[in-house]
Amino acid sequence: MTSAQEEFEAGSTAAAVVRRAAAHAEAYLAAMPDRSVAPPATYAQTLAALDVPLPTGPTDPLDVLDALVVAAEPGVAATGSGRFFGYVIGGVLPAALGAELMTGVWDQNAAFTSLAPAASAAEEVAARWNLDLLGLPPGASVGFTTGTTMANLTALAAARHRVLAAAGWDVAADGLTGAPPVRIVVGEQRHVTVDAALRMLGFGSRHVVVDVDDHGRISPAGLRTALAAGAGPAIVVSQAGEVNTGAVNPLREVCEIAHAHQAWVHVDGAFGLWAAASTKYRHLVDGVELAQSWSTDAHKWLNTPYDCGLAIVADPAAHAAATATRAAYLPDEKARERDPFTWTPEFSRRARGFAVYAALRSLGRDGVAELVDRCCSHARRFADRLAAVRGAQVLNDVVLNQVLVRFGDDDAVTNAVMASVLASGEAFMSGTTWRGRTAMRISVSNWSTTREDVDRTVAVIEKALSEL
Ligand SMILES: Cc1ncc(COP(=O)(O)O)c(C=O)c1O
Repeated sequence: MTSAQEEFEAGSTAAAVVRRAAAHAEAYLAAMPDRSVAPPATYAQTLAALDVPLPTGPTDPLDVLDALVVAAEPGVAATGSGRFFGYVIGGVLPAALGAELMTGVWDQNAAFTSLAPAASAAEEVAARWNLDLLGLPPGASVGFTTGTTMANLTALAAARHRVLAAAGWDVAADGLTGAPPVRIVVGEQRHVTVDAALRMLGFGSRHVVVDVDDHGRISPAGLRTALAAGAGPAIVVSQAGEVNTGAVNPLREVCEIAHAHQAWVHVDGAFGLWAAASTKYRHLVDGVELAQSWSTDAHKWLNTPYDCGLAIVADPAAHAAATATRAAYLPDEKARERDPFTWTPEFSRRARGFAVYAALRSLGRDGVAELVDRCCSHARRFADRLAAVRGAQVLNDVVLNQVLVRFGDDDAVTNAVMASVLASGEAFMSGTTWRGRTAMRISVSNWSTTREDVDRTVAVIEKALSEL
């Protein structure tokens, strides 16, 4: 044995490191209410703190962990805080956090059922629960991806396979060269990651773009015209939850129009699909089950840890044709059907299903509905209270959990208010440009946000505005 190996083996045990990590975690969580919601340290400061020379020999794992916490924690945004409203980012439910810690300890490779039966079974059950909650076809296949970006890619790969097969082309065997052209029809206000997925699938970026209304909802008349203008294989990418306004496309109408042209409908529902879990908001996604594929995130509104998205396809054969891998050393075809790697572009990967299973089991059907309702009602409260602030203008109809607000006539005022709120450390929200105007974008996606958090944040915003 080399001396480095000897030193390494003499170091602290895994159990001691887990205990120390638990102590650090407890301290972090206990300090959360008083912590700056924005990272106290900049990237440059955190980089300087982490950037030590690569050690020549081993360092005791406890020392490594302690040093990592000291250097990294100032650069951590308190996304778990009830006053974090940036992007569309949920917190972490306690049960999901516990499951996530065990996922690290178990260190399963979730690719294969034969190797990781528990990881595969947790995904199987969590997938079924998700389909039930979201009102999607029970026979749909589900892949646990890194997020909605990869879920979009996966589902659109399935769409590509099926629409080309219907035109007599086997894209899995022959690729895209010489294939019948596929019309990709998208709404003007699609999420940018839809374009990324389409580009990676060889569809380029010159799509048929349909107009949207002032909240980003696709125009049914525009869609009808766009589809009637051509013929042949077509994929329509629709949306549940516009990232700024939260608006949902008229999904039933979109599906009916698309299906009249034999087009595949994919719904990007990164967060908006969760409206389906609430009796109060389900009407927003009426007809969603008529689509052929869907993508959503567990790491947003379901409040699981990163990373976890879901690629859901009503046609499992098309799904598997797009993503399943074949190799001589893998279990036989039939056994492989339930292998998690059949449904995602990845092979080896983290066992994402444990945290999703734990989140759903801890909340139950009613808990998920309440989570959605609560976030939406907080968003409504934000809008009502901010609308009463002199100089503030709420720009969207708050139908879900997203609020767009602007201050004064000059973009600079809104930017200054956002900068001041961030600097206060009291709350975090990101900005956007909506219809050519700068706006503060408030997303209420965290399970732990309370009415007091909303009121405290409104007070901080008011103060920032009055001090300008
Ligand atoms: C509508 C929509 N689609 C796709 C995405 C991308 O999701 P992810 O970051 O999980 O890949 C987002 C992220 O906010 C989104 O809001």
